[in-house]
Amino acid sequence: MVTPGDSPRDENVYFNDPESGAEMARLLSQDHLITKGMGGLFSERSDLSGIHRILDAACGPGGWALEVAFTYPEIEVVGFDISRAMIDYARARVQMQGMDNADFLVMDIQKSLDFPNKSFDLVNARFINFLPAAAWPKLMQEFKRITRPGGTIRLTESEWWYFTNSPALENLNAMIIRALKLQGESFTESGRFTGVLPMLGRFLLDAGCASVNYKSHVIDYSFGTEAHEGFRRDAAAVFKLFQPFIVRMGVATQEEVNQLYERMQFEMLKEDFRGLMLPLTAWGEKL
Ligand SMILES: C[S@@+](CC[C@H](N)C(=O)[O-])C[C@H]1O[C@@H](n2cnc3c(N)ncnc32)[C@H](O)[C@@H]1O
Repeated sequence: MVTPGDSPRDENVYFNDPESGAEMARLLSQDHLITKGMGGLFSERSDLSGIHRILDAACGPGGWALEVAFTYPEIEVVGFDISRAMIDYARARVQMQGMDNADFLVMDIQKSLDFPNKSFDLVNARFINFLPAAAWPKLMQEFKRITRPGGTIRLTESEWWYFTNSPALENLNAMIIRALKLQGESFTESGRFTGVLPMLGRFLLDAGCASVNYKSHVIDYSFGTEAHEGFRRDAAAVFKLFQPFIVRMGVATQEEVNQLYERMQFEMLKEDFRGLMLPLTAWGEKL
């Protein structure tokens, strides 16, 4: 896990160790589930004319950015992440696939971004709600600075994502939300939700966008659906990897988490298991 230390990365608030192979594997398989479940790379638009340079912030191992670069060879794609391991992986994929339109950099999203003013036509960020609430305004100023006038800023988030009839899964989900709240990663008073979704429009306006557009997505991972097996594996990985975070934040004991984890795995295999994930994409044109 991330422990206090001297380097900027060690001070990072991310809930898992970004250098761990397990976290990278989790993000790679999650990327496929989410991009597919959202109906593709840019399901809200069919026209990418005028888009020549795209940034994917906190890109993980680069799943989305690599697919964009592969699908649109005329577009230059840049991704950055705090994880050296994930950036090395993304770079290896670029080399292996012989791409010349993708680049990946190690960078900290909580610092000034090392890109010139107005250097991107589209700035994308998906699932960065690990950021403390207090860190968003500075990031939005950076997105505003690096997006050209007329360019697009695009944010995709989901409320912590297991809407379900499985009591164990619901409980574990609630524990993560409570742990996030304790770490300052919540926009709600009650701590029942992270509350990031209603904030997305505010962030875009703060980033200099004239208006805000939304597209919501529904991914059904109930028993018997195509997405069920992938999400069942995702939940197994998420709630294994997040156990130390839940316990460290004092939300539950290791024993309580272990018991719920066992029950969750059982309940997700029942024929009456129901689950939905509801990602929301918000985007705006920068003035
Ligand atoms: C939930 S993942 C989302 C990855 C990717 N955007 C996606 O949708 O598949 C969050 C990513 O943020 C990265 N991250 C954590 N702290 C960061 C920081 N301070 N600066 C940049 N990236 C960071 C993690 O390494 C991880 O890859």
